[in-house]
Amino acid sequence: MKFFIDTADIAEIRSLAATGLVDGVTTNPSLVAKSGRRFLDAIAEICSIVGGPVSAEVTATEAEAMVKEGRKLAAIAGNVAVKVPLTPDGLRACRTLADDGTMVNVTLCFSPAQAILAAKAGAAFISPFVGRLDDVGTEGMQLIADIVQIYSNYPAFRTEVLVASVRHPMHVVEAAKMGAEVVTMPPAVLRQMFAHPLTEKGLAAFLSDWQKTGQSIL
Ligand code: E4P
Repeated sequence: MKFFIDTADIAEIRSLAATGLVDGVTTNPSLVAKSGRRFLDAIAEICSIVGGPVSAEVTATEAEAMVKEGRKLAAIAGNVAVKVPLTPDGLRACRTLADDGTMVNVTLCFSPAQAILAAKAGAAFISPFVGRLDDVGTEGMQLIADIVQIYSNYPAFRTEVLVASVRHPMHVVEAAKMGAEVVTMPPAVLRQMFAHPLTEKGLAAFLSDWQKTGQSIL
């Protein structure tokens, strides 16, 4: 399972990349706005920190303009994945960019039907938003189960399921049980994944007992 970090905050990306656990980064226009950075500079810097796919989203809404923007974004670095929205124009742009050899992440997926369309359009990643579905009273993780099952019926589909809009570690655990290839999570969720009170308590006890021995390993 690959871990992507869902942020445009360079300091956070640097700090989490140092864990050796980060396989890629996803951004969106809201995250870029929050970072206060110039979009193209931020993407270039993120690509220099993380070797895996870095999603950069187009903001045009018409296919030809999306392709133009996508080509400009893809030229920033070899690991840019161009993000397009799941609209008819977005999927037309997806096909063209995929035919160029560019990784495309189709975003804002909220149904299995949409996920089938993205796979047929040659997307490298489909991003179903589980947290936003939970927010409106539906079970976001059921969408992941459905897409994983559908894609597994068609080995010719090369699209990876990239679980997005993740809100807590249990989303990650459920996604792993379902066999989703990628989860993108806010930095806080990756940090939460480390935490368990018994780990902290156990370590404190080991260290205190060790101190009583008066020994040191080095
Ligand atoms: C995915 O690529 C999106 O950037 C992200 O996961 C959206 O999450 P949100 O619903 O927390 O905004």
